[in-house]
Amino acid sequence: MRVMKFISLAVILVVISTFAVAQAAPAQTAPTVKHVPITNAPSNSGKEMFNSYCAVCHGKDGKGNGPAASAMKTPPTDLTLLAKNNGGKYPSSHVAAVIKGQATTPSHGSQDMPVWGPLFSSISQGHEGQVQQRITNLVTYIEGLQAK
Ligand code: HEC
Repeated sequence: MRVMKFISLAVILVVISTFAVAQAAPAQTAPTVKHVPITNAPSNSGKEMFNSYCAVCHGKDGKGNGPAASAMKTPPTDLTLLAKNNGGKYPSSHVAAVIKGQATTPSHGSQDMPVWGPLFSSISQGHEGQVQQRITNLVTYIEGLQAK
């Protein structure tokens, strides 16, 4: 699966363009979203993966206010409220399915929320065990962010 290595739609960079516009109306500095190659964050650290892969949209605290959030059509979900919005029970298998791109909710297939399964597969050179470890550690990390 060498080709998979070249998939590079993952991590998003926000570029705040600063224009020096001479006496025009106040220049709006709208963030634009740029796709950059996925980095290989350690699969055993949910926190590092979250900060590398998710925080740009969902925010480091998971509340949905990352730097790229304002460029999204659909606002990134506040991940700290997943349990609260699910009758107090953290929906771990749903979160795993969303990450893999297998969730059957309206949020799946949204163009704004990247599908991570194939990307994790590419950086893990197709080792299914490591992909699973990535997903499990992310799911556990997000569980730790839940509002009490
Ligand atoms: C490019 C921005 C972006 C990135 C990066 C991103 N997400 Fe999202 N995410 C979204 C948006 C937007 C939504 C809301 C989508 C919708 O409702 O259609 C969302 C929704 C979700 C949901 C909630 C789905 C539901 O059923 O309510 C989960 C869980 C989630 N993201 C997890 C993650 C994880 C874990 C990562 C990192 C591996 C991640 N996201 C990275 C934009 C992003």
